[in-house]
Amino acid sequence: MLARGEGNTGLYASRPLAEWVGLSGDLWIKHEGENPTASFKDRGLCVAVSLARRADCRVLACASTGNTSSSLASYAALAGLPCVVFVPAGKISTGKLAQTLAYGARVLEVEGSFDEAMRLVEEAAEAFGLGLLNSVNPWRIEGQKSIALELLDELDWEAPDWIVLPSGNLGNISALGKALREAHAAGLIDRLPRIAGVQAAGAAPFARLVAARRENAAAELLPELAPETLATAIRIGKPRSWRKALREVEALDGEVLALPDEELLDAKAAIDAAGIGCEPASAAAVAGVRRLVAEGKIERGARVASILTGHLLKDPDLTARLHDGSLPGVPAPRPRARRRVASSLDALREALADLLGRAPPPPLR
Ligand code: F0G
Repeated sequence: MLARGEGNTGLYASRPLAEWVGLSGDLWIKHEGENPTASFKDRGLCVAVSLARRADCRVLACASTGNTSSSLASYAALAGLPCVVFVPAGKISTGKLAQTLAYGARVLEVEGSFDEAMRLVEEAAEAFGLGLLNSVNPWRIEGQKSIALELLDELDWEAPDWIVLPSGNLGNISALGKALREAHAAGLIDRLPRIAGVQAAGAAPFARLVAARRENAAAELLPELAPETLATAIRIGKPRSWRKALREVEALDGEVLALPDEELLDAKAAIDAAGIGCEPASAAAVAGVRRLVAEGKIERGARVASILTGHLLKDPDLTARLHDGSLPGVPAPRPRARRRVASSLDALREALADLLGRAPPPPLR
């Protein structure tokens, strides 16, 4: 088994974030960005690459918005196997592209969105015998189940009322639901939590499907042909695991939301300022709790866990633009956060007063 110390990620009870989302009790934050390659993907890929090596796969492959590719590249290097990753050209963050290349993956930049990259890698896997390690691969799902099991263990097997997470290709919500149902069937928890998946409004085919199913129980997924969101990790129009995910949402009395980028970035700014930090897509987990509390679907006194799927440094460009106020329609969270300064004490006195909004304190005696 290939391992780099996946899991055992931090679980934080954040009071400022609980207040921000409107909960009277704690909001539990499970930070999956604390995995070895800084996203939740490591839990599934350590299992999947280990088994692929045992199954004598020669070349590993995936389509990715950047986190799966980083993780696959790392475990493929540990396994001593080559890997080829298919990414949407120009639509993956610099941090993720650099990380993927650094671990030695060969990168194919596909013109179009993640959905085209996914279609192409599936055809390539079939035609050239590549070992396909996207979350359509059941080994991935088995590994990712450990997020839920570890969370329940940390909560002494007292299930929270809700677990909220970002959703894109829908592997993670499928794994979470499966783990929760299995834990319940085994008697490890005495009731099932409800789950909520949160999509970006510009890439929300699953949220639309779940809404449509309330009118028509036989409705099927209609892909979003031009998915768009600043949260590039979840910029996906045709999620592969929608059938599995739908089964879990229906079994766990779940909700699926579509939130505008402004709400995701507001949540990101709040998570970052709480000292915890995450990449933009991950913030959907906390934005979703806030929305569900505001709509009265989550009670103010509920016990809620949200899953941050990736690390703050996965997308430094977007974070810098957010704080510089250069994202259209999104005001900087703290307008006076940075400025240039000349190297003199006089200039510094003025700069400090500007940054702090008041004169600097007198020297300590
Ligand atoms: N959050 C982050 C940070 C992700 O990278 C992803 C998916 C998700 C949430 C959504 O999880 O697809 O299981 O519903 N990233 C994939 C990738 C698509 O290629 O890295 P999901």
